[in-house]
Amino acid sequence: MLITAGPTYEAIDPVRFIGNHSTGKMGLSLATAFAQEGANVVLICGPGVQQIALPKNIIRIDVVAAAQMHQACLKHFKQSDITVMSAAVADYRPAEMASSKIKKKSNGLDLSLLKNAYILHDLATKKSAKQLLIGFALETDNERHHAAEKLKRKNLDMIVLNSLNDKGAGFGTDTNKVTLLFKSKRTKALPLMSKLDVANEIVNEVISLN
Ligand code: CTP
Repeated sequence: MLITAGPTYEAIDPVRFIGNHSTGKMGLSLATAFAQEGANVVLICGPGVQQIALPKNIIRIDVVAAAQMHQACLKHFKQSDITVMSAAVADYRPAEMASSKIKKKSNGLDLSLLKNAYILHDLATKKSAKQLLIGFALETDNERHHAAEKLKRKNLDMIVLNSLNDKGAGFGTDTNKVTLLFKSKRTKALPLMSKLDVANEIVNEVISLN
């Protein structure tokens, strides 16, 4: 299995970056839940994801930027039967990283950004019929519609929809409230539960897809 977790940081200069609020708790819970079922897991973590003791059947790889996460995913995707992309990957990176700290100027500062590779999309184009690919979607409006559209467009087997509108769901919390959407058009709305319970629900659904 391949699981991604946490944010990516895109360097602006040696001390600053563009990042997001993801903590990787959902990804760590997923890795733990799949490992408990006996899966051999490669867990690719973005920066700041908590260093916890992991069972022997989880190999953790720490990366910083989206480009490194992409390379690590490409290295491990082919031999993975199931891939779960729970990382919050930065869509853009600064066009160049300044080699020394950018000094304050009297006016504003313009940052030029380049688009990062879309890792999930890249893996979807490389996926064989027997591989399962599961994506995450974080939406703030018209959630189900956007998530269903992503599932179809990216040829995914399942998408886990997180809504920022739900109390107790999302970044940094120990709980989450998600809706699972499947290729078959079935949907399953889960109540607010711990991230580990959400992970176990996902594991059970993946087992029944296999
Ligand atoms: N993802 C990825 N590579 C990126 C950006 C996102 O692999 N450069 C993956 C995430 O790991 C997640 C999924 O894409 O599984 C959805 O990410 P999200 O940011 O919710 O949606 P997008 O499809 O990027 O669309 P938008 O940002 O326009 O809502």
